[in-house]
Amino acid sequence: MASSTSGIPGQAAPDLTPEVAVGGAPVPVTGTYAFGNERQMQPERLRLLAELLDEGTFTVLAALGVRAGWRCLEVGAGGGSVAAWLAGRVAPEGFVLATDLDTTVMRGLDHPCLEVRTHDILHDPLPESSFDLVHARLLLAWLADPRAGLARMAAALKPGGWLTAEEMDFLALAPDPRLGPAACDLFTRVIHAHHAVLAGQHAFNPFHGRRLAGDLAEAGLVNTGCQGRLTIWQGGQPGGRVWQLTLIQLREAITDSGLVTAAEVDQVIEMCGDPRFRFMSQAIIASWGQRPS
Ligand SMILES: C[S@@+](CC[C@H](N)C(=O)[O-])C[C@H]1O[C@@H](n2cnc3c(N)ncnc32)[C@H](O)[C@@H]1O
Repeated sequence: MASSTSGIPGQAAPDLTPEVAVGGAPVPVTGTYAFGNERQMQPERLRLLAELLDEGTFTVLAALGVRAGWRCLEVGAGGGSVAAWLAGRVAPEGFVLATDLDTTVMRGLDHPCLEVRTHDILHDPLPESSFDLVHARLLLAWLADPRAGLARMAAALKPGGWLTAEEMDFLALAPDPRLGPAACDLFTRVIHAHHAVLAGQHAFNPFHGRRLAGDLAEAGLVNTGCQGRLTIWQGGQPGGRVWQLTLIQLREAITDSGLVTAAEVDQVIEMCGDPRFRFMSQAIIASWGQRPS
């Protein structure tokens, strides 16, 4: 079980270790990333994440001044939508390296300024002091050692380069009460079981967003800043559909956790396809900082 300290004198650390944060018996950690990109549902899931999140990401990156000639590293690039956008911004003489454990979904990407590389951010070699920008979205929460991942990304920055990380924090995720208390309670219990499975079996931290700004400062970055985004997602729309694809893929593991039944997971999958169902999305926390010159 991982341990945490608040680092604030006189204040007890909030215990966000997987089992305690989500309840249930400890489950042995069997791996990290839960949704391998070679899976049949992943292209759609990554496309939906891009549809839901790219606009906010592009706003943050544009505000940092990404421009022609920059050298950028996109870590855990997934479907590559952010890498492709960056390649367009830094062209014609800039460069974007898009890395991922599994680059299957980036196969179709083709841009003269873009290189796609299979790469594990925790273990594979990475050039040091080379990039004007390093960006990672929805990656750190999956890493067995997120601080080590962040340290490696920070080391890849040129002096004065910017690191931006974006992670979800599921605290905000909550159903609109319109469907009634029973449906809301069911949704909440299935989401709780989802957290338990991902935290227990995949070392995923559903509350990673809240620690990003502190982690960037601790990694030695300066001029740090952060921003949170959340909205209302709807059944049958991209937000509902992404939850359907998530729950379909985790259905067996969630059921095996014993926290909810298969029928209950199926009911929530159905709710997430129903346009009458709305829910507050998980928050996306973006945090950025600069390597000292
Ligand atoms: C939730 S997806 C996010 C994809 C993309 N960044 C986005 O926001 O749409 C997480 C991605 O991180 C990749 N990943 C997980 N662990 C990794 C590691 N150790 N090194 C590199 N990539 C990793 C996964 O393969 C997956 O593509």
